[in-house]
Amino acid sequence: MKALVLSGGAGTRLRPITHTSAKQLVPVANKAVLFYGLESIADAGITEVGLVVGDTAEEIQEAVGDGSKFGLEITYIPQERPLGLAHAVLIARDFLGDDDFVMYLGDNFIVGGITGLVEEFRTSRPDAQILLTHVADPRAFGVAELGPAGQVIGLEEKPERPKSDLALVGVYLFTPAVHEAVRAIAPSWRGELEITHAIQHLLDSGADVRSTVIHGYWKDTGNVVDMLEVNRTVLETMERRIDGEVDEASETVGRVVVERGARVIGSRIVGPVVIGSGTVVTDSYVGPFTSVAENCRIKDSELEFSIVLRDSSIDGVGRIENSLIGRHVEVTPAPSVPSAHRLVLGDHSTVQIHT
Ligand code: G1P
Repeated sequence: MKALVLSGGAGTRLRPITHTSAKQLVPVANKAVLFYGLESIADAGITEVGLVVGDTAEEIQEAVGDGSKFGLEITYIPQERPLGLAHAVLIARDFLGDDDFVMYLGDNFIVGGITGLVEEFRTSRPDAQILLTHVADPRAFGVAELGPAGQVIGLEEKPERPKSDLALVGVYLFTPAVHEAVRAIAPSWRGELEITHAIQHLLDSGADVRSTVIHGYWKDTGNVVDMLEVNRTVLETMERRIDGEVDEASETVGRVVVERGARVIGSRIVGPVVIGSGTVVTDSYVGPFTSVAENCRIKDSELEFSIVLRDSSIDGVGRIENSLIGRHVEVTPAPSVPSAHRLVLGDHSTVQIHT
């Protein structure tokens, strides 16, 4: 069995964080979303992975390399434009050969991995197997309609009037039967060859398509609350590990990870928290459910339930909560005269000022 991992896409549902970077590299607990996917593929016993890349190919390739650090053998498959998930299957035909495969969308996060699912598929081997999850707004997804016995009746891509709240999760298991289906379909209104349509084609031709409803699913839809929540979930599973320096004036409580090369000086850290390498936390408090990425400076401040991406600095600003702070950001006090906020904010930023 092989894996096809999709890591192209234009990232049109942007929030500030993905303006300048691949959506698959958005960090959760200081690790790219894509890496969790690759690790769960390796855990499921799959080693041959085709990685479909687009405009951000260079960035993805730099992060993933040849895959050996995940125990995988990666073959890069360039997609000239984001022409759809079924198009990705089409161009991966040579790589996939006549093997069964799991298709995994690199911006999807499945809590608990895919090992059980892959085993189930290997044992029962239907023509295709899809994953579903209940979502608040199904219109942003592919949506499945199930029959009374839970069988898949029909699928629609981004329907205006969804027939259920069961969204297609970005992990699909296929036998080679899918190749004929991806060749048979036409582009959708958005100009893409939709995998949803290919699976509908399989259903129409009498194929056995099974579904599993899962819980613990996340995808970057630009929703900061969701992102803080998935970060919290992952931080809660971490083991305490202090590889960096913590001075005697500091205290670390509970599940705290201080990476090698990070320094904590005169501060109190209450886990679950991860502090990335090269980051220095001085005279500060970092509270539960917070990830601070690499090479940040946190000084004379308090931070809780937040994500700070790399190379940012927070200095002398009191308490920050429920926040997502991007790369190379500086948060500092304004000069005392005039008494005014001074802001330089990128596109799609949100600021809530405590007055
Ligand atoms: C794609 C699929 C959609 C699925 C979603 C899951 O959407 O077309 O059916 O629900 O991935 O991530 P896209 O990200 O291309 O909008």
